Amino acid sequence: MIILVGYTSVDGQTRRIAGEIASRIEAGGDRALLFDIASLDEYGVSHPEAAILCAPIHAGNYPGVFTEFVTREKAWLNSVPSAFVSVSLLIMSDVEDEREEARGFAETMKHETGWVPNLVHHAAGALRFTEYDFFKRWMMHRMAKRRAGATDTTQDYEFTDWQRLNAFVDEFRAAAAS
Ligand SMILES: Cc1cc2nc3c(=O)[nH]c(=O)nc-3n(C[C@H](O)[C@H](O)[C@H](O)COP(=O)(O)O)c2cc1C
Repeated sequence: MIILVGYTSVDGQTRRIAGEIASRIEAGGDRALLFDIASLDEYGVSHPEAAILCAPIHAGNYPGVFTEFVTREKAWLNSVPSAFVSVSLLIMSDVEDEREEARGFAETMKHETGWVPNLVHHAAGALRFTEYDFFKRWMMHRMAKRRAGATDTTQDYEFTDWQRLNAFVDEFRAAAAS
């Protein structure tokens, strides 16, 4: 099976997640078509038979280029086995309301775009303090102190649970093949 692994990423973590998904797919014997949605290239040449799309939350929204792509491609996406990987920080909060907020981003995306993925996986992202500009570092430090215990702005933090991500990919492949 050929599986499209489409992603958008602002700071790089969702790109890493998509890369890991593609590696897991290929290790399992299927073919992965890794595709940067923001590149606006054609992806249809190899006729994917399933799709996993990944996008990060920034300031309460997925990147516009992602929601535009999904809205444009929803007929195709709804016609094949598909899954969505939502990347955020709130999903790892100790506060249930905040985790609910993170889950809500994906629900809103579904309603707004009309795409109904068969599976949704919520992955915790990363904080790249050493790469942020002053304002972004200040903003994310305020957010991270409370939610992730990440207080040292001289280092980066990666919260993604790679084992859970791989288990999700295996679950998707099994469901898509049946
Ligand atoms: C400027 C900025 C705003 C963010 N806003 C949110 C947010 O509103 N909710 C949330 O859960 N995570 C938020 N995050 C955390 C990102 O989802 C996380 O850093 C993720 O790994 C980013 O993915 P990317 O590296 O692929 O861009 C924000 C991160 C940044 C840098």
